[in-house]
Amino acid sequence: MSVLIDGRAMARELVERTAIAVAELEADGISPSLAVVLVGNDAASEVYVQRKIVQCAKAGIRSIEHRLAGDCDEATLMSLIEDLNRDAGVHGILVQLPLPAAFDASAILDRIAPEKDVDGFHPVNVGRLSTGTGGLVPCTPLGIMMLLDSVIEDYRGLNVVVIGKSNIVGKPVAMLLLEREATVTVTHIETRNLPDIARAADVVIAAAGAPHLVRGYWIKPGAIVIDVGITRMRDHDGSTKIVGDCATHELEHAKAVTPVPGGVGPMTIACLLSNTVAAARNLGARSSPP
Ligand code: GUN
Repeated sequence: MSVLIDGRAMARELVERTAIAVAELEADGISPSLAVVLVGNDAASEVYVQRKIVQCAKAGIRSIEHRLAGDCDEATLMSLIEDLNRDAGVHGILVQLPLPAAFDASAILDRIAPEKDVDGFHPVNVGRLSTGTGGLVPCTPLGIMMLLDSVIEDYRGLNVVVIGKSNIVGKPVAMLLLEREATVTVTHIETRNLPDIARAADVVIAAAGAPHLVRGYWIKPGAIVIDVGITRMRDHDGSTKIVGDCATHELEHAKAVTPVPGGVGPMTIACLLSNTVAAARNLGARSSPP
């Protein structure tokens, strides 16, 4: 019987701790604030942005939503980012992805000031993560590590298989695990014998965006499984439901698994809030007199 790792409860606790940190910063005259930029009207992005804004309010973080039309030109978005970079009242900047296809997403993410890049996507923060020298860390990998910390004490020598090599999850989570001295294998769509590779793992992190890709026979007894997938699927009765990358009902022999929904998703948002507070603290420390 596997343990379900309760991401909702852990996220609630992190939001509560973040609210305390916000109150402490406010006592020092700093009001943490997050600018959220949404370009176009992608339905899933609208939902995610609203969730982020609701959780900001719970932690006492001021959120400012900037909406741009999907057909606006790139210069308009760049100039908004420049304004937010200069605005001393803004501590975190998030541009919701995916951007409409006409935008050069990587050029846009590069324009965000690294110290306000609460997504941890700027090359400076990516470089810091890969050299283990601090910086802001992407929210989903940060949340995954907190979920894993609730069931793993010592990562040294553990075999971890990451399925998916995205810049948002696969690559950064591999870096965090390497820092903890796990042995990490990053796999992807072209990987051969994936079930065999996964079966050797103590921990499997499924971040492929492929519903029910990971089957029970891929997982060795006693392994830990983190399911990052969130695919909206239509049920037989016409209703929709969110499905993860793992066939969770086949994972009774695992030691622990994260549910979908209610696992990684809530932790991602809670980590965005804690990153915003970290950015506000760092920026505040820089601007205060010695
Ligand atoms: N789209 C999906 N995940 C993310 C994320 O973590 N940050 C941003 N900015 N967009 C996303």
